[in-house]
Amino acid sequence: MLTPNVELSNKTVLVTGAAGFIGANLVLELMRNVPEIHIVGIDNMNDYYDPAIKEYRLSKIEEKAQETGALWDFAYGNIADKALIDSLFSEYKFDVVVNLAAQAGVRYSIENPDVYIESNLIGFYNILEACRHNPVAHLVYASSSSVYGSNKKIPYSTDDKVDNPVSLYAATKKSNELMAHAYSKLYNIPSTGLRFFTVYGPAGRPDMAYFGFTNKLLNGETIKIFNYGNCKRDFTYVDDIVEGVKRVMQCAPEKEVGEDGLPVPPYRVYNIGNSHPENLLDFVDTLQQELLRAGVLPADYDFEAHKELVAMQPGDVPITYADTSALERDFGFKPSTPLRTGLRRFAEWYKEFYLK
Ligand SMILES: NC(=O)c1ccc[n+]([C@@H]2O[C@H](COP(=O)([O-])OP(=O)(O)OC[C@H]3O[C@@H](n4cnc5c(N)ncnc54)[C@H](O)[C@@H]3O)[C@@H](O)[C@H]2O)c1
Repeated sequence: MLTPNVELSNKTVLVTGAAGFIGANLVLELMRNVPEIHIVGIDNMNDYYDPAIKEYRLSKIEEKAQETGALWDFAYGNIADKALIDSLFSEYKFDVVVNLAAQAGVRYSIENPDVYIESNLIGFYNILEACRHNPVAHLVYASSSSVYGSNKKIPYSTDDKVDNPVSLYAATKKSNELMAHAYSKLYNIPSTGLRFFTVYGPAGRPDMAYFGFTNKLLNGETIKIFNYGNCKRDFTYVDDIVEGVKRVMQCAPEKEVGEDGLPVPPYRVYNIGNSHPENLLDFVDTLQQELLRAGVLPADYDFEAHKELVAMQPGDVPITYADTSALERDFGFKPSTPLRTGLRRFAEWYKEFYLK
């Protein structure tokens, strides 16, 4: 296990994408459990999905700040705006930076490639440059399981070669890891990249399958289940992701000098996933049971009439999951929330948010 070398209490932390799904949950967790923390959030509140959910998450953060006394400042802005990022860094002198702002989604990048370049590349470049000129104890940033592309070997390991992205989104995430490596080497910036595997939970992202299935079932539409449901995927509950991020934030890669007298890049990358792939059909069954239980759908709902089992889509991989042994080894941590618990919390939140 690594020994924590970054204190969070009494420190100032920047969370980009703070109104986002993972960002907001991270901010809430830090406020709950880290004494005297000062958190600065930035988000451009874009409408890739319903911004009302982002506003809702921010309202929860405001409430938590009131309740815990944590210091909270929010900047409504774009990480691709270099002047804004520079001014935030020089004003707050961040101790730790967590970059979660990004344009997510694989399909959206076909129609809207520009925004991926702007947010994921220029935005991340601005964060790196700001860390170069305003040294931080640790830069943690989101990468993605999508960097594994159509990797055939399972489980996906950070030792696998990931040079064959199959979407622009994946290419930007892999680029982030490369850019971070160069900046870690050149400017001795301790950085850790985290490859998240399908994250779900309350107030999650409406563009993701479980959320889309729920909307469709509620509207009486039919959901398509590919490969007749025989796909296995890692679904990771958001609290597990947040716990992982919080632990990682406190363990920065050590700065060391190599034989050449130059810094060895203080750079690491981990997978954070469940490492317990679920069959898609079981996932949908559990989801429907929990939607009934929460009263999102009526007790007599005819699921069979709204479920279509179809063949695999070209490019789909039948099974993907994370090798999380490095995460366990270094942080003594492994995601553990059972699917039913996670989907129950999602269904209860959905009922409260949309149907009350
Ligand atoms: N949720 C997942 O399953 C998953 C899986 C792999 C990787 N990731 C990565 O984790 C990170 C967080 O994902 P999420 O699920 O919370 O997504 P999200 O879309 O809910 O959160 C991202 C937030 O960043 C904001 N944002 C986007 N571009 C911005 C910009 N240029 N400037 C300022 N704010 C901007 C958005 O408004 C949004 O609130 C992202 O980097 C994503 O690529 C997520």
